[in-house]
Amino acid sequence: MGRPTITAVIPAAGSGSRMGAAVPKQFMELNGHPLLDWTLAAISQADEITSIILVTPPDDVARLTGKYVENARWPKITRAIAGGTTRATSVYNGVRAAETEWILAHDAARPFVSPALVRRTVEAALRHGAATAAIAAHDTLKTRDGDFLGESINRATALIIQTPQVFRSADLIAAHERLRHEGKEWTDETSLLQHAGIKVAWVPGEAANMKITTPDDFRMAQVMAERSPFVKGPARI
Ligand code: C5P
Repeated sequence: MGRPTITAVIPAAGSGSRMGAAVPKQFMELNGHPLLDWTLAAISQADEITSIILVTPPDDVARLTGKYVENARWPKITRAIAGGTTRATSVYNGVRAAETEWILAHDAARPFVSPALVRRTVEAALRHGAATAAIAAHDTLKTRDGDFLGESINRATALIIQTPQVFRSADLIAAHERLRHEGKEWTDETSLLQHAGIKVAWVPGEAANMKITTPDDFRMAQVMAERSPFVKGPARI
């Protein structure tokens, strides 16, 4: 069996409201390059990925098509398309636009994903049907009850879920169409797939693969960016 081709869907259509900045976080600069460029460069370097669909705020489709698709700096980026009002809709739009059996969804807001983590996640998905990167919890975990602590959560079995997440396009589309009337907000694709009855495997994620959400995260990412090489050139196809 040859290796399947995999489309990366990069949701970058969020408004970044928790960052409180003038521009959405994916366009803020990390050590001289927009955060989104770091993520696209990292995903472009992964040999398993054959094409990339960028999901952008609707008003930015034309500008980002010019910047990332026509300019061909990273030739794997084939399309920029409009996202929706939730992350789940943005990924769904990207999956619908993809032409491969397998999809890798990865948050634009996780710029330091490594090729090794992409490979681990892809291999687990091909073996088990769907897979995500995840980190075992080391801190004590609780629910919250207003200003007070709620219940204790068993740390020994808790995971913090990251992306990449790899699954079959047909599974995601079927789950989305069957369950969207429930009106739930899915914060990632594994939640939706599991709710549709699909088992999802996990592989060890990486601490560096943090999601940049708050100004604190951004400061930490800036330090990391100063120490990481930025891959400028086009990736191999
Ligand atoms: O909001 P959150 O941090 O979970 O967003 C994760 C990723 O999903 C971000 O890269 C963000 O740009 C993207 N997103 C999206 N469409 C939305 C909301 C978020 O593509 N409506």
